[in-house]
Amino acid sequence: MNRVALVTGGIGGIGTAICRRLTSDGWRVVANHHPSEQEAAQSWRNDLAGEGFEIATIACDVSDFADCERMVSEIATRHGPVSALINCAGITRDKTFKKMEASQWNAVIDVNLNSVFNVTRQVWEGMLEAGFGRVINISSVNGQRGQFGQANYAAAKAGMHGITMTLAQEGASKGVTANTISPGYVETAMTLAMRDDVREAIVASVPMRRMGQPEEIANAVAFLVDEASGYITGANLPVNGGLFMH
Ligand code: CAA
Repeated sequence: MNRVALVTGGIGGIGTAICRRLTSDGWRVVANHHPSEQEAAQSWRNDLAGEGFEIATIACDVSDFADCERMVSEIATRHGPVSALINCAGITRDKTFKKMEASQWNAVIDVNLNSVFNVTRQVWEGMLEAGFGRVINISSVNGQRGQFGQANYAAAKAGMHGITMTLAQEGASKGVTANTISPGYVETAMTLAMRDDVREAIVASVPMRRMGQPEEIANAVAFLVDEASGYITGANLPVNGGLFMH
């Protein structure tokens, strides 16, 4: 039986590319989506099936610990234990700090950071016991360098890598790796929602002078989940066209 990979935010721009790629690479992929996206998830599943990708979908609010417990137990029953978890669910609520409301801060911390605890906590012990596991946290260049208007997002994305480095240490002797991928500006609905002039100014500052493609993030995920990448752990892999180097 194929190993199971769970992709949170699996029907989004980057998530979809990850689901396609891991399915092509032989994983049994389960794409998580928010409960409010039931119809969108069904047409997503049908469209991908039409292209030859058989991908399961499952609703769950990743900011809710109990719902994550239910999701992972349903996946275990239907498909088997999760061997690779890609924490990709994320939202933005951009506002300059002086105008940021507590609700905008909390929403981003809940969905982008607390979700990593909520979902990973459900699969972690199983991975340790199995002696194999892969956790990939999809962070952002803006977690590494901050960004005007993104105090909430930058804090959550930086926090993800803190979790990664700790999981890397706790999983190392058990065959379980944890890594972060930090995309730059990738062509998805999230970046297209930005004001055109702001986005264009950012893209002009990227050394490669273009946005990334979701498939370029999926390629990094495929590399890190591979069995042959078992000696890489605790890394933060930038995929950002040269926008930030450290
Ligand atoms: N650095 C310094 N000053 C800046 C600035 C910057 N990067 N951007 C804007 N300013 C200045 C402006 O010049 C302006 O100055 P004045 O008041 O003196 O005229 C002031 O700050 C207000 O700027 P805005 O008009 O932009 O303010 P706003 O309230 O209309 O918009 C904002 C605020 C929506 C947050 C907007 O600044 C913005 O869109 N910022 C970019 C946020 C961003 O990069 N989001 C990424 C979303 S995609 C994503 O997150 C994926 C990923 O991982 C990369």
